[in-house]
Amino acid sequence: MSRHDFQIPVTFKHRVVFTRNVFSPENPELREILEEGGGRRALVLIEAAVATAWPHLALEIEAYLATLDLEPRGIHVLPGGEAVKTDDSCVREVWNLIDATHLDRHSYVLAIGGGAFLDAVGYAAATAHRGVRLVRFPTTTLAQDDSGVGVKCAINAFGKKNWVGAFAVPFAVINDFRFLHSQDERTCRAGLVEAVKVAMVKDREFFDWIEDHVDSLAALEPEAVEFCVEKSALLHVRHIAEGGDPFENGSSRPLDFGHWAAHKLEALTSYRLSHAEAVSIGLALDTLYSTRAGLASADPAQRVLRILAGLKLAVYHPALDWLDETGHRRVLGGLDEFREHLGGELTVLMLKEIGVGMDVHWIDPEIVGACIDELRGISS
Ligand SMILES: NC(=O)c1ccc[n+]([C@@H]2O[C@H](COP(=O)([O-])OP(=O)(O)OC[C@H]3O[C@@H](n4cnc5c(N)ncnc54)[C@H](O)[C@@H]3O)[C@@H](O)[C@H]2O)c1
Ligand SMILES: [Zn+2]
Repeated sequence: MSRHDFQIPVTFKHRVVFTRNVFSPENPELREILEEGGGRRALVLIEAAVATAWPHLALEIEAYLATLDLEPRGIHVLPGGEAVKTDDSCVREVWNLIDATHLDRHSYVLAIGGGAFLDAVGYAAATAHRGVRLVRFPTTTLAQDDSGVGVKCAINAFGKKNWVGAFAVPFAVINDFRFLHSQDERTCRAGLVEAVKVAMVKDREFFDWIEDHVDSLAALEPEAVEFCVEKSALLHVRHIAEGGDPFENGSSRPLDFGHWAAHKLEALTSYRLSHAEAVSIGLALDTLYSTRAGLASADPAQRVLRILAGLKLAVYHPALDWLDETGHRRVLGGLDEFREHLGGELTVLMLKEIGVGMDVHWIDPEIVGACIDELRGISS
């Protein structure tokens, strides 16, 4: 018998670009990135809502790709939104396209869409041939300021968010700001919640900036929204790239502040609550909890609640009060699912003060109940 422990050193380059009109022939960003990879085949997948909002996009991309030294393998429009994560039909369709167009590991899938679309297409690309190069073009606020710049992809299963998925560093992420401006108002505004989240746990100055600019953000003034998106995206990426745990082997997940309840609320409401809307409730809940449990030194709740109200985001949903057959709040089941998803000991980030989080390993259900009562009161 023998045992051999090897160290396998692996590093990844994580290319993240902020630009405008990326498919314009004058814009060098994408060409440089594709040339750097040296791959030849490229398959383009566009989320239907984006193709509708930008009717000339497919033609624009076709003309752009024709100027590059590549073998374009087609442009396809596929459905998007959370529905594509609720079963594996989108994943299978993308696998079929990758197979039919003979993409290999050096080929590119260019995926243009919101967070849900990128999650599903990303999972298909990460698993086809054990990984085809994915270039993500996030098109929503949330996808640009958080999900699209990360290194995860997943679909939902067993009634749980993101149960089937992978860690897979995309070949590149291109945040083209122009896509932000075709979202409906509500989606555009709600996606800023992830910027609020990351500011709350990582960057007090950014939080102050959001507080000062909440009216401009709520009015979706392009300059304010784009600044906020870029700052948030970089805070997320910096944590992933430089925080020492890109693939979440440890127990702490600061970028998931407020998410134990959010993920459960999404599933409980059969995804009628969007991720962003659920995160707003989760942030409010964990902020109140931090205060009531005596974790937060100065009371951050009023400031946080004012920002969420300014962004017209709700902080309560009746699903917070739905009970199981034993009379317990169903949302509390989110804690077990959160722990199982992460592995190891339950670790939930709470707030010590604005900009500073702290891990806790136990959540008091009585205090959660009192926080929910308070949120219900605020909302009525
Ligand atoms: N992988 C990760 O690390 C990670 C992190 C955070 C969130 N997420 C996931 O991201 C998803 C939420 O993403 P989202 O907020 O982008 O929602 P979404 O993908 O559902 O998009 C919201 C809506 O906007 C439409 N849309 C997209 N881009 C548009 C555009 N430019 N113009 C007009 N309409 C457009 C979509 O069709 C959809 O109806 C959730 O499934 C969440 O779990 C993943
Ligand atoms: Zn989130």
